[in-house]
Amino acid sequence: MTNFMATRPQSTTGRIETCLEENEIGMIQSIRGFRDILPGETERWRTIEKTASELLEFFGFREIRIPVLEKTELFCRSIGETTDIVEKEMYTFPDRKGDMLTLRPEATASVVRAYIQHQLFAATPVQKLYTIGPMFRRERPQKGRYRQFYQINAEVFGIASPLVDAQILFMLTSLLDRLGILDCTVHLNSLGCPACRAGFKDSLKTMLHDRLDRLCEDCRKRADRNPLRVLDCKVPGCREALQDSPSMIDHLCDDCREHFDAVRRHLEALSVPYTLDHRLVRGLDYYTRTTFEIQTAHLGAQSAVIGGGRYDGLVKALGGPEIPGIGFAIGLDRLVEIHALVQEVRQTHPRVFFCALGEDAQRMASEWICRLAVEGIEASMDYSGRSLKSQMKQADRSEAPMVVMLGDNELAEGQAVIRDMSDKTQRKVPMEGLLDLIRSAA
Ligand code: HAM
Repeated sequence: MTNFMATRPQSTTGRIETCLEENEIGMIQSIRGFRDILPGETERWRTIEKTASELLEFFGFREIRIPVLEKTELFCRSIGETTDIVEKEMYTFPDRKGDMLTLRPEATASVVRAYIQHQLFAATPVQKLYTIGPMFRRERPQKGRYRQFYQINAEVFGIASPLVDAQILFMLTSLLDRLGILDCTVHLNSLGCPACRAGFKDSLKTMLHDRLDRLCEDCRKRADRNPLRVLDCKVPGCREALQDSPSMIDHLCDDCREHFDAVRRHLEALSVPYTLDHRLVRGLDYYTRTTFEIQTAHLGAQSAVIGGGRYDGLVKALGGPEIPGIGFAIGLDRLVEIHALVQEVRQTHPRVFFCALGEDAQRMASEWICRLAVEGIEASMDYSGRSLKSQMKQADRSEAPMVVMLGDNELAEGQAVIRDMSDKTQRKVPMEGLLDLIRSAA
């Protein structure tokens, strides 16, 4: 007999290969860098997701849902062939027909693809879209860095005005305020356009070549292929070697400079504090002009909670019309970790706990649970039929503020015993009045 649990397809040949011995038993752990988010934690995730999506919608964003799997080419053409993400971190595999597929390492490429594929620009090019979901990068797992992680990702299409760059940063700092997260810093830079960036890259390359022997091995390779990334290297030797590196801002062409100056003026008008950071180059190649990160000191090396910027050439590069874009992604895992340091999230508990003695009383308690659930009131019971004392212990652990006790006597009298768990007082109430009593207490 085929044991489907014990087989796996071998993707390149389509052959089925056994990966477990027939009778092997034992615990299967999750994959390194992939983790479960358990009850007790999910409440915090949902609080943050709800706060963020409400605010995004007040700013005119609408939700889009996109697949987690895309053609590999989509990410190569958008994120860039020489980036760490594409070179080293993507989960890429051939499917059974040999097509190369990739678990999305980020959402921007997919949202742009969907925008083009469904011609969302046809009625009006201006679209504000957001999505929440898992991304996959095969990085070395550590605190704040996972191989499956979550982003709240948002994109604005069709607005070239620097007003929207400032609005986005205003929205993001407002979100952090709403979540009670105060000590974050907005880092701002401009990467210019392909024309002015070329001049900057040249002067940077010249400098890198003069100092190759002081750079780490990765940066020596990057010096020609992706020189901007060297600015972002965290290795102390590289940082020291490039202390006096040229700044992109000094190389901006007139249009890019005007745009950047306007972003800064609008940020000041909106009272959004920021730090100019000429080393902020971001790890994805599609950016043009404004780039930003919101960083925190709480997470050690993984300091970026939010990253984003403009990508005025990306829609065209992926086969669409020439339409500008700007967006950001919030690292939800990191935001949750910081939020846990500053805010309590209330755990939910049942509003009522039923202790039932005897089969009839248990059935009645069960009916009550169903009735209350459809009314929107969470109730719970002990299903074991054990002693009242044991059931009361369970009631205590549930943290329900009210306990309803039912036994044969109560059923015969058409009454229930109510215990107020805050002051431990008890009283009998007629069954007819129970629903109103629970509703008023809930
Ligand atoms: P990113 O900077 O690669 O940008 O990622 C955005 C955020 O996702 C990071 O600041 C970080 O908080 C979180 N993040 C990234 N990698 C990991 C990881 N391995 N573990 C945990 N969190 C992580 C983007 O993804 C762009 N698509 C943002 C964007 C949207 N730009 C324009 N539109």
